[in-house]
Amino acid sequence: MRLIEVRNPDEAKTVAADLIQTYRPRVFGAATGATPELLYRELVDRRALDPSTTVCLLDEYIGLSTNHPQRYRHVIERQLATALGLSVVSPDVDADDLARACCAYDTMLDEVGGIDVQILGIGRNGHIAFNEPGTLFETATHVVELAATTRADNARFFVTDERPPTHAITQGIASIRRARHVILIATGRAKADAVAAMLDGPISTSVPATALRDHANVVVIADCEALAARAVTNHQRCVTTCPT
Ligand code: GLP
Repeated sequence: MRLIEVRNPDEAKTVAADLIQTYRPRVFGAATGATPELLYRELVDRRALDPSTTVCLLDEYIGLSTNHPQRYRHVIERQLATALGLSVVSPDVDADDLARACCAYDTMLDEVGGIDVQILGIGRNGHIAFNEPGTLFETATHVVELAATTRADNARFFVTDERPPTHAITQGIASIRRARHVILIATGRAKADAVAAMLDGPISTSVPATALRDHANVVVIADCEALAARAVTNHQRCVTTCPT
C-alpha cells in the first residue's frame, strides 16, 4: 500500500485526479459517498475520462424505486457520467433472482475487460463498498444486509422521514481486489480509527479494508485528520503541517 498524505480534501482530489490521468482507465470503478464527490467534479472539469470509458458501480441499494435520486446509478450519472458522456454498468437490483444478478455482475465486469482503476472510500467501521466487518476476503459480488452504523451514516443522503434501505448488492472483496489499480481516499476525523486499522492493524476480516494490504497497486490518499489516530511517528508530517 502506498500512502500519500495530503493536507485536506481539496488536495486529496487533486492528487487522485492526477493519478487517474496517469493510469488512463478504459474501465473506471466508481464509489459513491461524500468523499469522492470533489474528485468527480475535478474529473469533469478536466474532462479527464475519455467518452469511451465504461463506469462500473461498486455497489447499489436494493429496494429504492427506479427513479429514486439516491440510487447510486443516478448519483454517479449526476456527479460524473452524464457530463462526460460515459456509459454506466451496475448490478441489477430489481431482478427477481438477486443471487443470479450478483453472478451476472461479476461476469459483466469480466466482459468489459476488468476494472482498470477502482475508486474507494472507507466506512467508519472499515468497510469498503458495502463489505461490512466479518465479510470473507474471498467473496464475490453478493447481497448484503447493511450494518446499523452504515445505515446511520448514510441517512444524511435521504430526506428526513425516509430510512436508507436495509440491503444492497455490493462488489465483493475478491471482485474489488481484481481491479488493476485501487485508489482509496479517506478524509476527515471520523475515518481516523478505520484508517489506522487499515494501515497498521492486523490483516483481518473485522477490518475489510485490510484486504487491500497485499494488493500490488493500491494508493491510499489520506488527509491529516484521517491519519490522526496513527502512532505519532507515522504521521509526523501531518502533525507539523496541519493546524490543530
Ligand atoms: C458507503 C459506500 C462506500 C463508501 C462509504 C463512505 O457506505 N458504500 O463505498 O466508501 O459509504 O462514505 P463517505 O465517503 O460518505 O464517508
